[in-house]
Amino acid sequence: MLVLFGLVHWPLWIISISGGQALSILLYSNSTIHINKTTILPIKCEVCIGKSCKSSMTLSKSMEVVFNCPQPEKAFMVEIVQHIVCASTCNGTIIAEDYPSLQNFNRTFTWNVKVQGHKSFGLDFTKAGLRQIQPTEQCQDKHIYTVSTATATVGKFCRQGTIKSMQVLREGIVSLQVPGKQQLNAANYGVSIGSQITSPAIINVTLPEEPSSQEFFSPNYPGSFPDDGLITWAFQVSNKVYSSVHILNYTEPICDTKDTRMEYQLHSKTFVKKLSEAQLSEHQGSFNLSLQNCNVDTQSSSTSLTLHFKISAIRRGSEVRCTVDLKREKALQILIMKKKPKSDCILKLNSLAQQTATITSEKISFVSFIDCKEEDLIITINKTIKCQQLRDCPSPGSLRVPSLEKCIMGVVQEVQWHLYGPQHGAVELLSSAGSLQQSVPGHTCNNTVLLTVSEYEPQGVTVGQFCPQGAIHKIQINVANITVSASPAGGKSLRRITDSLLQVSFIKSIKEHYIFTVLPKKDIPVLLATPAWPLGMKDYATVSWFVSFPAQLEANVSFPNVSQLTCKNRPAYIKLHRQRSQDKMYSWQDQNPKNVVLSESFYLNMSNCLPLKGGFSVVSQVTLHTGKSVLLSIILSVVSVVLLLIAITLAVFCIRRKKKQRAPEVAVYNPNGHSFLPGTNRIPQETEDEDFHIYNYIDDHMVYGHLLKDSVEMNEVGKPAVGVYRSFTGPIEQQPLTENGGCEEPEVGVYRPFIGHQRFSDMPDRPVTSEENLACKDKQKADEEIIGGDAIQQQETVPNIQKVVKTEEEQD
Ligand SMILES: *[C@@H]1O[C@H](CO)[C@@H](O)[C@H](O)[C@H]1NC(C)=O
Ligand SMILES: *[C@@H]1O[C@H](CO)[C@@H](O)[C@H](O)[C@H]1NC(C)=O
Ligand SMILES: *[C@@H]1O[C@H](CO)[C@@H](O)[C@H](O)[C@H]1NC(C)=O
Ligand SMILES: *[C@@H]1O[C@H](CO)[C@@H](O)[C@H](O)[C@H]1NC(C)=O
Ligand SMILES: *[C@@H]1O[C@H](CO)[C@@H](O)[C@H](O)[C@H]1NC(C)=O
Ligand SMILES: *[C@@H]1O[C@H](CO)[C@@H](O)[C@H](O)[C@H]1NC(C)=O
Ligand SMILES: *[C@@H]1O[C@H](CO)[C@@H](O)[C@H](O)[C@H]1NC(C)=O
Repeated sequence: MLVLFGLVHWPLWIISISGGQALSILLYSNSTIHINKTTILPIKCEVCIGKSCKSSMTLSKSMEVVFNCPQPEKAFMVEIVQHIVCASTCNGTIIAEDYPSLQNFNRTFTWNVKVQGHKSFGLDFTKAGLRQIQPTEQCQDKHIYTVSTATATVGKFCRQGTIKSMQVLREGIVSLQVPGKQQLNAANYGVSIGSQITSPAIINVTLPEEPSSQEFFSPNYPGSFPDDGLITWAFQVSNKVYSSVHILNYTEPICDTKDTRMEYQLHSKTFVKKLSEAQLSEHQGSFNLSLQNCNVDTQSSSTSLTLHFKISAIRRGSEVRCTVDLKREKALQILIMKKKPKSDCILKLNSLAQQTATITSEKISFVSFIDCKEEDLIITINKTIKCQQLRDCPSPGSLRVPSLEKCIMGVVQEVQWHLYGPQHGAVELLSSAGSLQQSVPGHTCNNTVLLTVSEYEPQGVTVGQFCPQGAIHKIQINVANITVSASPAGGKSLRRITDSLLQVSFIKSIKEHYIFTVLPKKDIPVLLATPAWPLGMKDYATVSWFVSFPAQLEANVSFPNVSQLTCKNRPAYIKLHRQRSQDKMYSWQDQNPKNVVLSESFYLNMSNCLPLKGGFSVVSQVTLHTGKSVLLSIILSVVSVVLLLIAITLAVFCIRRKKKQRAPEVAVYNPNGHSFLPGTNRIPQETEDEDFHIYNYIDDHMVYGHLLKDSVEMNEVGKPAVGVYRSFTGPIEQQPLTENGGCEEPEVGVYRPFIGHQRFSDMPDRPVTSEENLACKDKQKADEEIIGGDAIQQQETVPNIQKVVKTEEEQD
């Protein structure tokens, strides 16, 4: 039996001497065996050669050893050490060979590998395939591999992992621990001369092509990684697989010089991350990761560098890579944001997966998209335009959607321009398309772009929302800094919009907070909302709309939405006055304003007060029509010819009948076709509900028509003729109308409602004489002087008139 053993294996002799064991050990070439005592047993237990007994023994040649206790494997472990020295080559396959005589002992097979010169050696573990474990962890097959360099323990490993090879600089140790009574079942590995490397050790990991996750530890873990130490993991990853690095646990020392860092090498690019930062994520393909320790301040450092990280990998579709060169751009920022953080789409900036990638100007950035659809990503572009002095300012600067590289995926949802002008200056915005319309709820633009203008304050007060094509020609805002943002109407992308959207100029300070220049088109209602609408304007803010239109037209101004507010000291007001004269035509304080008709370009000015309650917000509507006076004069001339004929006929008739009866002075034009023949029918009072306005219309004209000439004197500007005087046509609201100090200003004449149930016979008496008008003017002047700059006028009210709806319909 013993002979057989000796033949098959290296010989093993077990001789019992007083309960002890004798082992005959035949060493392999270049091997050394250490028999070390690791635990103290209650009974005496030593290893003896001949008469010399020790607690540990080193055998460098075949020998017989005797233990003086019954179960030496409980006290001793065995280390079988082999030295491998590579000179020009060290090609070799290493096979761990067991010593059957030592099988009861915990065994450690150790290979000390050395290469001459500054070379490295490679360890090929392809057969074993190693997996790093915690130092306290066990392997399923109870075989633990340990690899060390000259300065640190690279790690402990089990079999069946993804570590396929390692490179170690100059010298290192590979060991395999097998517990007592465990059959050795080791895979062989290769040792070869390696190339020149800079890292003390490179761990070569080949990730599988299926989803995987594995953990790694820094050398000496959980002990400290050596001062200024370096270790590299080379991850071989298929291009179908995307991997991410997550730090599970780390500690950092206090550094003297340098700093601890993670250095990634990807596609020949290198970038560095702190341990506290997010690490590489969703990286396609192979990469290297190095952990570098600093020069530790050993005096004050109580912690050391330790790192425990995980690499997880997943298979994905193809990656769209994009190089964004913003080297020549200034103050431009492109923000790409994932719509749903958990979506499959992976957005990467400079190889790191991000929820939001911020691409800034003056450099080149690398963005990539994996498994992304255009709609998975939202892009916001932010551009700053700054100038200190008016003369340095771009004039006028064009605001257009910056064109993006085609490879950048995402829906361009907003472009923001932050405009910083010279202090105490103003900003002027001109539509590049020629005009803008204001977007107000219920009357939103159906254009492709919505432009939001806001004052650049921390709270960001909105001036308004606008879109191309409308009546607003120019916007002036009396602040140095504003923000203009463009967003697509209806969730589309701004990408395809290449035209300039606005022309921006920085200008000198202006008189009002906001001035809008409005050029309405005939029959198209223009809505104008006060800045900040639907919120109130800023305290004491003033806004002016200059509404300009050709002389043959007339403007109907109405106020469909007026807020309620209580002012602290002076009231808020709305004023309307003509362009060419400073005459106030209409002024409103705290009541609802009425519709007004203007026959000449005008200013619509508003001023907020200091509101105690509520806010000052008004939506005005301006609609241009063909001047009714033009139409009317034509109609009237026809009618008057007819009337003249009738009058003559009647006169003749009357004279013939010798009746003293006076004919009515007014003939009525009835568009409904029910003409009243003067003198024969009385005007039916009852029908006023229906035709009230018609009479009114005619009345006014008839009554004041002859005064038009007189009013020429009043109107410094002249040109009263057609279209200046207008009788009331617009709707009349509940609120009493107001007039200046009870004076009527016939030349203004815009707001002239029908008053009471006039009788025809009264009419000739109503006209105001020139003297009266002048008197009124004087009074008005006096009023203005009294109230001063604010030009708030005492308003008198005239009885309510309720005939609104009909008239409006009539107008439409
Ligand atoms: C056993 O002892 C020898 C000599 O004392 C020492 O060099 C060796 O490292 C020890 N082995 C183990 C595994 O502790
Ligand atoms: C042998 O190894 C086991 C664990 O593998 C350990 O518990 C035991 O103490 C070791 N025995 C000696 C004598 O070192
Ligand atoms: C790592 O392993 C791969 C494949 O196993 C091999 O091609 C590569 O040369 C190895 N690299 C190093 C540094 O050992
Ligand atoms: C992290 O490491 C520290 C010290 O090494 C340890 O106390 C702690 O339990 C570890 N935490 C986790 C989550 O592994
Ligand atoms: C806009 O971009 C600038 C840099 O160009 C940045 O400082 C600023 O925070 C950005 N603003 C917004 C609102 O994104
Ligand atoms: C405008 O912006 C500039 C630059 O940020 C700032 O210094 C200045 O105070 C701002 N001006 C106003 C009026 O807010
Ligand atoms: C209305 O605003 C315009 C533009 O600022 C200004 O020229 C005009 O004097 C203002 N009118 C009144 C009455 O404040």
